[in-house]
Amino acid sequence: MNRREFVKSMRAVAGVAAIHGFAFAKEGEKKMKYAVVYFSWSGNTRFAAETVAKKAGADLFEIKAEKPYSGDFGKCCDEAKPECYGKTLRAIKPIGGLDLAKYDLVFVGSPNWWGTMAPPVRTWATQSKESLKGKKVCLFQTHGGGGMQRVGQEFAEIFGDTAKVLPPKAFSGSSIKSNVKALEDFADERIAGK
Ligand SMILES: Cc1cc2nc3c(=O)[nH]c(=O)nc-3n(C[C@H](O)[C@H](O)[C@H](O)COP(=O)(O)O)c2cc1C
Repeated sequence: MNRREFVKSMRAVAGVAAIHGFAFAKEGEKKMKYAVVYFSWSGNTRFAAETVAKKAGADLFEIKAEKPYSGDFGKCCDEAKPECYGKTLRAIKPIGGLDLAKYDLVFVGSPNWWGTMAPPVRTWATQSKESLKGKKVCLFQTHGGGGMQRVGQEFAEIFGDTAKVLPPKAFSGSSIKSNVKALEDFADERIAGK
């Protein structure tokens, strides 16, 4: 095959790929890598994280407290309250396989606890802020009716000028399973830089 025939056959392949919706990265264009890191106590934020990760084609990682919170709602609330108001860094387990250097944008999911992020998320963000220097980071949270409250602002404060913090978004926890489209749109918009 001469050069002309080669170019012709490549164009044909590109045409077929375009028809089938594949995209070829242009020369010099780097494939962006995404991660979703989340903490969830009762599963709503896990569902949101899985949905965002699927849409973004992102790797998914769970933050776990070294000492889990009580499985009883009232006891968990009592345990978490002083930590949330005191901005306590509750110890977390190391996240196996997470190398932040690989990613361009990291989505971070937290439930709204006492108006702010769950303490394990605060710990993770504090420990990770230097590794995320120059990268993009974006919070999403699920809540029980309070909306964003202090979550987004306190999350952004942790990063200061290390990572570029994209606009956070709050989702209702109780209706999270009927919010797949909103979660997918959120993923698409932040990836598009909106
Ligand atoms: C300890 C605790 C504190 C909470 N505090 C708030 C709050 O201040 N505002 C709010 O809207 N929801 C609050 N909620 C409700 C959760 O944010 C909501 O149910 C969320 O979707 C749970 O996410 P998860 O299922 O991923 O744990 C609280 C829940 C718990 C367990």
